[in-house]
Amino acid sequence: MGHSYAVTAEFYDLLQAAEFSRLAERLLGRWLGTPTVGILDVGAGTGLATALLAERAGVVVHAVEPSAPMRAVLLSRLAGMPHLLDRIRVHAMGVQDVGLTAVADFAWCVNTMACLDPVERAEVLAAIRVALVPGGRLVVQRPPHRLEPPWELPSRRLGDDRYTGQVTCADAGPDRARWRFTYRVTHDDRLVREARESFEVYLAEPAAFTGELRAAGFDPIAQDEPEIVIARAG
Ligand SMILES: C[S@@+](CC[C@H](N)C(=O)[O-])C[C@H]1O[C@@H](n2cnc3c(N)ncnc32)[C@H](O)[C@@H]1O
Repeated sequence: MGHSYAVTAEFYDLLQAAEFSRLAERLLGRWLGTPTVGILDVGAGTGLATALLAERAGVVVHAVEPSAPMRAVLLSRLAGMPHLLDRIRVHAMGVQDVGLTAVADFAWCVNTMACLDPVERAEVLAAIRVALVPGGRLVVQRPPHRLEPPWELPSRRLGDDRYTGQVTCADAGPDRARWRFTYRVTHDDRLVREARESFEVYLAEPAAFTGELRAAGFDPIAQDEPEIVIARAG
């Protein structure tokens, strides 16, 4: 709960934007439809999906992002997109604290549930439901349900330096894991600098998460990859 992203924000777009943007384009092409009320982007992060959502839809996008380092990147991205500024509202707190009611008919919450503990997960789902009008659509990525093997983020060259990221996943108790991100900048195979950030991750079985969606007032209606659930606000 309450991760800072103080280290990760610097490297997020360089190492993760290309892959995430491909995923967001594909999912939005399939599930966005034509919102007429508004859009809620929960865990907007550096604003990769926020910008795509605002470009695709002619309604207000509520971008909810509590982490100041991530929000700094988000606002810098928006500063370069003046044509979108009158349609994006940024909320600098968790979605459960914003108090949005019936402002959207589409909600997007991807790559965010994993870091919420079960209590916060329920609060966030309930807040999304209240922010949606009845019949509104939610695209949400489930929390992981098992420990993952280590993986590498796509590496990038910047000048003569190479930026890389490794992620390891360790058991941290019942229904918990710890993701450890290690970012490295190397020059001719010499380490220039290294930075680390760890995230507590909360696991949930897919069926249990479906139950949590129902308890919050959603009807799951479809699934997509990776671990994406599409749900309708009842
Ligand atoms: C791993 S990042 C993903 C950002 C973005 N969705 C993406 O995929 O690029 C998860 C984001 O969710 C935000 N977050 C955490 N708790 C939240 C909450 N209660 N409400 C809204 N956002 C939250 C974090 O600050 C973080 O920026």
